[in-house]
Amino acid sequence: MNYWILSVLFLPHVFALSLVDQEFVGKCLYYQTTINPQPFVTQRKNCTLLWESFRDAIAYQPACHVPRERFTQFVRDSQHAIARDKFVFWENVYDIVMRYSNRGRRTFSIADTLTGFLGDTKFCGSNSSADGVEQDRSKCPGYDQTPECPWSAEAAFWTEASDYFSKSAYGDIELMLNARSNTPLTNDSYFSRFELPNLKGPNVTSLRVLFALNSALPPRETCSGSSVELVKRTLAQQGVTNVTCEVNPSSLKFQFCSEDPRLPFCTKDCDSSSTWSVHGHVITLCFAIVFCKMLFLI
Ligand SMILES: *[C@@H]1O[C@H](CO)[C@@H](O)[C@H](O)[C@H]1NC(C)=O
Ligand SMILES: *[C@@H]1O[C@H](CO)[C@@H](O)[C@H](O)[C@H]1NC(C)=O
Ligand SMILES: *[C@@H]1O[C@H](CO)[C@@H](O)[C@H](O)[C@H]1NC(C)=O
Ligand SMILES: *[C@@H]1O[C@H](CO)[C@@H](O)[C@H](O)[C@H]1NC(C)=O
Ligand SMILES: *[C@@H]1O[C@H](CO)[C@@H](O)[C@H](O)[C@H]1NC(C)=O
Repeated sequence: MNYWILSVLFLPHVFALSLVDQEFVGKCLYYQTTINPQPFVTQRKNCTLLWESFRDAIAYQPACHVPRERFTQFVRDSQHAIARDKFVFWENVYDIVMRYSNRGRRTFSIADTLTGFLGDTKFCGSNSSADGVEQDRSKCPGYDQTPECPWSAEAAFWTEASDYFSKSAYGDIELMLNARSNTPLTNDSYFSRFELPNLKGPNVTSLRVLFALNSALPPRETCSGSSVELVKRTLAQQGVTNVTCEVNPSSLKFQFCSEDPRLPFCTKDCDSSSTWSVHGHVITLCFAIVFCKMLFLI
């Protein structure tokens, strides 16, 4: 069988698909086969069906007034199970949290779920394309909500997705904030408006706030600041009393130091500041050498 003949026969059909459509379906397959295959072993999601649901939410919609309910169906169709204790929320640390979560291997940010992975791009509706979806993404207004553009398709999508993601959170969950921010938590963020109100006991058992400090400069706000205060107060009203807070726990510190070993907090452990630990290492090393020699002698 000559497969290339088949592909030539189908070539016109392949080109008839829009790029946005092809990218979406490709990402959908890639997610289920490679990024996070586990939830889909017994039942794979139909990526064509998901595309149709997503497209129908956007198609022919005005640039800045898309009702969020249009995405309810898609968010529901694309959801999958996430394990207990594997939810991380965040504000103003997109790049850091994406490396921290490691595509769901450590934990799941919303962009590591199938729903978020598929929507983590630019998109909007159009009246001049065949399927009602804008092909030139640079024309789309983005997800920022402004008085001129309160409900872009992206804003409607993230609102609906955030609502669903936070309602499904359970166990010990995390919140990552930016210690270099003047206001790590703002009242108008997606987290404050669409996620925090849904984090409730008894499903949520605790919240661990992680302040990320990826800089040689000092933090502007950390655990004793008003952001943690507000989170604590809100969660207490929602039945979650176990809220802890740390600045650069070792997992984050290792991440930052592997990316930039010159950061001041990366060398500390080996410096003169902790001679004890140096002595400890030397002693351990000596024992190891003696032990190895014994092994080889016997
Ligand atoms: C996936 O959905 C599409 C569109 O609804 C449908 O045509 C196709 O048969 C479905 N594929 C499978 C394997 O169910
Ligand atoms: C498409 O047309 C409808 C009806 O005239 C209009 O409300 C909408 O804003 C248009 N969409 C875009 C993306 O221009
Ligand atoms: C944010 O909301 C909280 C609680 O409603 C309020 O105490 C605080 O003053 C608000 N902060 C800003 C900057 O609006
Ligand atoms: C708690 O989790 C269960 C099972 O996931 C769910 O059915 C229930 O709606 C959740 N409760 C709340 C208050 O979200
Ligand atoms: C609070 O939650 C943490 C996990 O985030 C857990 O290790 C700790 O035991 C909990 N503390 C209490 C008092 O329940």
